[in-house]
Amino acid sequence: MIEVRGVGQRAGGGRRTLRDVSLTIESGELVAIIGGSGAGKTTLLDAIAGVRPPAEGEVRFDGEARVNGDARVNGGAFGYVPQDDIVHLEMPLRRTLRYAAGLRLPSGTPPQRAERAVDAVMDALALTERAGQRVGSLSGGERKRASIAVELLTRPRVFFLDEPTSGLDPATAADLMRLLRGLADSGTTVVLTTHHPPDVAVCDRVAVLTQDGRLAFYGEPDVAREEFRVGGIEDIYLRLAETEPHEWEGRFGTDAAPAVGPGVGAFGQWALLARRNLDLLSRNRLTLAVLAGSPVMVLAMFAVLFRPGAFSPESPSPGATVMILFWIAFGGFFFGLTYGLLQICTELPVVRRERLTGLRVGSYVLAKVAVLLPLLALVDALMLGVLRGLDRLPAMGWGTYAELFVTLLLCSLAALALGLLVSAAVTDPAQATMALPMLCFPQVLFVGAILPVPVMAAPGRWLSYAMSNRWAFEGLGHSLGVERLWGSGRSPLGPPLLASYGDTFGRAVAADWAVLAGFTAVFLAGTCLLLARRT
Ligand SMILES: Nc1ncnc2c1ncn2[C@@H]1O[C@H](COP(=O)(O)OP(=O)(O)OP(=O)(O)O)[C@@H](O)[C@H]1O
Ligand SMILES: [Mg+2]
Repeated sequence: MIEVRGVGQRAGGGRRTLRDVSLTIESGELVAIIGGSGAGKTTLLDAIAGVRPPAEGEVRFDGEARVNGDARVNGGAFGYVPQDDIVHLEMPLRRTLRYAAGLRLPSGTPPQRAERAVDAVMDALALTERAGQRVGSLSGGERKRASIAVELLTRPRVFFLDEPTSGLDPATAADLMRLLRGLADSGTTVVLTTHHPPDVAVCDRVAVLTQDGRLAFYGEPDVAREEFRVGGIEDIYLRLAETEPHEWEGRFGTDAAPAVGPGVGAFGQWALLARRNLDLLSRNRLTLAVLAGSPVMVLAMFAVLFRPGAFSPESPSPGATVMILFWIAFGGFFFGLTYGLLQICTELPVVRRERLTGLRVGSYVLAKVAVLLPLLALVDALMLGVLRGLDRLPAMGWGTYAELFVTLLLCSLAALALGLLVSAAVTDPAQATMALPMLCFPQVLFVGAILPVPVMAAPGRWLSYAMSNRWAFEGLGHSLGVERLWGSGRSPLGPPLLASYGDTFGRAVAADWAVLAGFTAVFLAGTCLLLARRT
């Protein structure tokens, strides 16, 4: 049973989009929310489903408030189908449904049963022939049905659908309503919004919203027709349009499942999401081009820019060595940042939807790291290997190069975490792209390479502590013994050549690693918190 009590919502500018809505939905009822475009149907549905909790009032399920990502919700208790069909567009339909089944079916479901569930929903929604087709290439109505199929894999206890029948032909729409009627009859509570009058006839109750977000009526469809003194549901829209919205308020009285197993655990979700990430990554040519292309181009630029043998005491160029180390660190930072930046903002609506079915943000974020970190490791190793091969880096033992690699990978990881954090904070890819230079600039200026930390203005020096790149740069310098080469008075070349850098490279590299790991932990935790709030 769902109790909605005095629910109100406000839009961005403080405008009220929903006013004091109260209604009770009994278990196993099929309820339609109708009203003009912009009346607040989606807003009300989202408030009830918990997608956007209400600003005023409360929603209780069987007498309890609920929390997204709650273990009890896991295992498919809630299903939510948004107005815009939101599924990954690159993947074939069957595969999309397989991943969805993995996330939503109770843990321990045998693969054959999951496969049968996938076949069954495709059959129920007449999508069997489209199984191999990319979701992005389905027709509007097919995509809508695919979006519904995702939630039907499990039998949700409560099912929310925003305009499930829009974009469908009358016969398919009637089929879908029959399907939902059947779900309700077998115990699932179904709440939907619609613009199709015929849909309302099969519903137990209808909620009518006025144009300013008040509840004009809540009750059985037949009663609605009587109360509004109209012949058909479509005439209610006309009657609503004829009258001032507030006149309806208070004119009508408002009257006051299947077994769910425990959902997939945190680790199971992580493993499944990691596999899906990899799958998506391999299907998106543009992303692949960026992932592979930017390291290749940057590496080519380094090879052209740096001269060989800069570290050799025979032809010393201390300034160049410092710059080489800085740009290597910055390269690691840049790859991590760009890898992370577009990850979350491009699929936030998907995450929002999956959160309702019990997705854990921790599993989600770590699944991103799991797929991108090996790629970064590859790129970082390649960068060190190629620069050594071209004699841009000095000949040193494997131990030194292992140290350089760890430093660089931690640098990339911290940047990846920063990228994910920003990606979770922005609203779309355009904003994420605009954030890129703003994130890079300070990591160039305040790192202490171009202007050494000891000669920075005091505020700059403080700021330099917050730059993950600074710690990577100094760690690289320490491992390569820059200080020994031309640092303090102990230099074999006589007077210190890099005196202005002071003891920049003096710190043990393990300390730099600890700081970089700390940055990573803070950024990842921030990403999780932010995502939990935004979804
Ligand atoms: N994030 C938002 N910022 C500003 N206004 C919003 C926001 N979300 C919704 N609104 C406004 O709230 C009102 C209700 O929106 P809602 O999406 O609930 O309408 P609806 O009844 O679902 O309409 P439709 O039938 O067109 O889908 C609209 O006027 C809309 O512009
Ligand atoms: Mg809507």
